Amino acid sequence: MTDLYAVIGNPIEQSKSPLIHTAFAQVTGQDILYTKVLAPLGGFAQEVDAFRARGGQGMNVTAPFKLDACAYATDLAPSAQMAGAVNAMKFVGDRVLAENFDGVGLVRDVVHNLQRPLQGRRVLLLGAGGATRGALLPILAQGPSEVVIVNRTVSKAQELVAVARQHQTGEVPVWGIGYDELGNKSFDMVFNATSASLTSELPPLSAAAFAPGCLAYELAYGKGLTPFLKLAQQSGVQHLADGVGMLAEQAAEAFAWWRGVRPDTAAVIGQLTVPLV
Ligand code: ATR
Repeated sequence: MTDLYAVIGNPIEQSKSPLIHTAFAQVTGQDILYTKVLAPLGGFAQEVDAFRARGGQGMNVTAPFKLDACAYATDLAPSAQMAGAVNAMKFVGDRVLAENFDGVGLVRDVVHNLQRPLQGRRVLLLGAGGATRGALLPILAQGPSEVVIVNRTVSKAQELVAVARQHQTGEVPVWGIGYDELGNKSFDMVFNATSASLTSELPPLSAAAFAPGCLAYELAYGKGLTPFLKLAQQSGVQHLADGVGMLAEQAAEAFAWWRGVRPDTAAVIGQLTVPLV
């Protein structure tokens, strides 16, 4: 019996998830069919119900339904609670288990694929929206020397600091500040988790933020050299990355959760990489 999976969103045409999971299934010898489901706005629960009625085993969730999926889930994992968003669901009888693998996917890409340990590093996170919420605890779990969250709306950065302090067991100092408070402080890793790249805008960041040997990481994927990566390059940063590895790794986490086998991601990353030029 072929097991059914899908990604649900609106729009959904652009999603790479079917390509990624079909490739994973081939290399791991898993018998699955992975499709796209376009749900009308306001029609998330109905479409998921229908997919489950057809025997669907699990789904990825993309915009604008990540919050609807939180409400739909019966068992929300801590990762999804923290992110306030679900990106993967598993259907087990009447239960709907829900996870958010974006943060662990990001960390795995940085530490494993890019070979850049976060431990002991000074980390700067740009933005205090959903992407930062998802990334924060997995980054803190790696034991960086400090994490600074910088945001246009400072109160949102400070709210995230409060949430991090509640959850984290380690002793990593976390700060929430505005761009004008950054001064000449520099960092070993700078992650752009704002939505600025989607509109070709640049967070108001000075070149001083990039320490020698810094990694500049754009969480968005497939946009080439975004304004943020261009600024990093012009500031002398040699290690640039976008979110293609994060995309592949969060998918691999979901695949392992569903199927009990973790696929290697190198081939998929190679296939989806858009040059940073
Ligand atoms: P996502 O779920 O993709 O993180 P979001 O929750 O809407 O989306 O958050 C978007 C983030 O990008 C916010 O931190 C936002 O800053 P504000 O909270 O101050 O609005 C940030 N952002 C968007 N456009 C930006 C820009 N041009 N410069 C700097 N930050 C920007």
